Amino acid sequence: MKTIKVMSIFGTRPEAIKMAPLVKEIEKEESMESIVCVTAQHREMLDQVLELFSIKPDYDLNIMKPGQSLTQITARALEGLDNVIKEAKPDIILVHGDTTTTLAGSLAAFYHKVKIGHVEAGLRSGNKYSPYPEEMNRTLAGNLADMHFCPTKGNEHNLLNERIKGNIYLTGNTVIDALFKVIKEDYVFENEVLNNIDYKNKKTILLTCHRRENLGQPMEDIFSAIKDVVQEIENVEVIFPVHLNPKVRDLANSILGQVPRVNLIEPLDYEPFANLINKCDLILTDSGGIQEEAPALGKPVLVLRTETERPEAVDAGTVKMAGVERNRVYEMTKKLLEDNEAYKEMANAVNPYGDGNACKRIVEAIKEYFEN
Ligand code: UD1
Ligand code: UDP
Repeated sequence: MKTIKVMSIFGTRPEAIKMAPLVKEIEKEESMESIVCVTAQHREMLDQVLELFSIKPDYDLNIMKPGQSLTQITARALEGLDNVIKEAKPDIILVHGDTTTTLAGSLAAFYHKVKIGHVEAGLRSGNKYSPYPEEMNRTLAGNLADMHFCPTKGNEHNLLNERIKGNIYLTGNTVIDALFKVIKEDYVFENEVLNNIDYKNKKTILLTCHRRENLGQPMEDIFSAIKDVVQEIENVEVIFPVHLNPKVRDLANSILGQVPRVNLIEPLDYEPFANLINKCDLILTDSGGIQEEAPALGKPVLVLRTETERPEAVDAGTVKMAGVERNRVYEMTKKLLEDNEAYKEMANAVNPYGDGNACKRIVEAIKEYFEN
């Protein structure tokens, strides 16, 4: 049988985390040749994942610039990918999720009439500006794709409702494959700040916040709410690995920089970060991926957004929408810290996002697709 040349394109931290176990699975498959192209829309935040999973990209477009605009990322990625696809001549290109790299990757593949597999397909919030620009990125990538790998039945339904063309597969989310590889119950951090926190006796909150639609006033409100909580409840300790986006960093430093028991730290590598989720009591986040990981570890999540494309964990009760308004974020956080019953109700391990075998299913599906 002819070898199937599978090119995986990714560029940001979450895509790398969720594509890494898939790249490893493709590497194991005898009938496939794995080619990895990173746009490096992110740099440091991407490289740590490549290192963790021992992935050496065949192509690295190195497009990251500080404070890059959406147009700049799209244009530079598209141009770089054009040359790479011309040279590598893949049979299928895999893109992931909803970033600008995803959109550029699927568009470049389409221009070269190469088959497209969309991993983490079918997530929808229904609002084109929230999350922005991700909702439109994934919708456009979905329209271009030939194979759609859906994490959940709900995602599958979204695509069927839109009468999307191509083959739809229910696979689970590859994030669970990645998570299971790194969680260790006796994990010890390299970062002493994290080792010195008294997880048993303190109420620990893990905070992340980076979304474009939250930049400015919403983020100011969120950080102020955290400050309010910490100033009122003494037994609380906050850990905030701050995203490298300078706009996020400036605001975090100005509002939370001097607040006692708020630890602003550098972004953590994936392994310590996932293990930190496992040690903390409560997660406050506007991240997508963390809404999938924390429920699997039985950690309550308050989502710092007005909409989510991940209703499964909300339905299961582990995730609640806190929004971005100062008083609401404050009240909801305080309740979970002070009301043990309310906390216990949310702290159930649920795993609507997969069983850790998503990558195997995706590889099988691609094999079958090309055999037929
Ligand atoms: C991007 C994705 C978003 C995803 C997020 C994950 C788009 C439009 N957005 O948003 O969907 O949730 O990644 O984190 O694709 N930076 C560094 N080093 C890094 C990474 C970022 O310095 O390793 C700084 C740079 O100044 C960069 C800025 O962060 O310009 C923002 O990066 P960018 O990729 O534009 O947007 P994100 O907010 O990270
Ligand atoms: N993450 C990480 N280090 C951090 C913060 C997050 O490794 O300091 C991981 C997290 O476990 C999840 C992914 O990064 O797998 C989510 O990335 P991010 O929040 O940047 O993007 P999103 O999921 O919102 O697209």
